[in-house]
Amino acid sequence: MSMTVTQIHDHFVGEISGLDLRDPVSSEDATRLNQALDRYGVLVFRGQHITDEQQLAFTQNFGKIELAVGGNVTKESERRLDIKLADVSNLDQNGKVMAKDDRRRMFNLGNRLWHSDSSYRAVPAKCSLLSCRSKPSKGGNTEFAFMPAAHDALDDETKAEIEDLVAVHSLIYSRGQLGFGDFTAEEKKTFAPVRQALVRANDFTGRKSIFLSAHIGTIVGWEMPEARDFIRELIEHATQPEFVHAHEWQVGDLVVWDNRQCMHRVRPFKDTDEPRDMRRTTVGGTEQTAEQAADQAA
Ligand code: OGA
Ligand code: MN
Repeated sequence: MSMTVTQIHDHFVGEISGLDLRDPVSSEDATRLNQALDRYGVLVFRGQHITDEQQLAFTQNFGKIELAVGGNVTKESERRLDIKLADVSNLDQNGKVMAKDDRRRMFNLGNRLWHSDSSYRAVPAKCSLLSCRSKPSKGGNTEFAFMPAAHDALDDETKAEIEDLVAVHSLIYSRGQLGFGDFTAEEKKTFAPVRQALVRANDFTGRKSIFLSAHIGTIVGWEMPEARDFIRELIEHATQPEFVHAHEWQVGDLVVWDNRQCMHRVRPFKDTDEPRDMRRTTVGGTEQTAEQAADQAA
């Protein structure tokens, strides 16, 4: 079997065939997969019924796994999955659908906002791999927006204006948009804001992306309302239908996306009625995109 990539959207998204993710990937194919991620932003694999261990092994073809800590309000004792897997399901530690008023559910509703994974970390994530183990009967698509195409479509004046801007990201800002604000002192410390360049270039393709995320709360040197209004406009521009692909999940799908050049969000579904078991592995980035302020080091 040899690996092939078929582009399934005008701007991005490669569907990969000819690979069985239960088996090790050759180093040639691993290189091709990383280049495809740079080029297509999102890679779709269908019919891959993998275990957690197989997902972890496959993930390492893209780099070093980022641990699922510091990114949610789930307590250690409430963890359903291994620390290397981010639990983006609607299930509790006993495999039961979370209650409507569960604090973890309230927090996880933030995934319905356009975002880039771990943009709230000083070194933001490279890519995410999401595996569908069970799905609801209706809804729950994941949508992706391709930031190089969105950057290309900006007018020259806006391109120049955003080129050197630095945005401030935190989970406190994204959750704040939904009115979730009752963070403990410890959570506030864990979720302390970080700085990210607003424009990033891909090393392989050279294409520039607008590095947008719901986690953005302000821009360095700007007044907050002005920054939020500006970011809201950019997100509206970047998520126009022509830049967006919706993935309709089937059990056994694995989708990999490049957080450096895509945003994503989950669409609504009846999450208090039906299980949706989605397991994510995340590959850490290799560098900061902006210098961090000294007062955030503490
Ligand atoms: C994620 C996420 C989307 C989904 O895994 O990072 O945002 O469809 N989830 O569950
Ligand atoms: Mn996400």
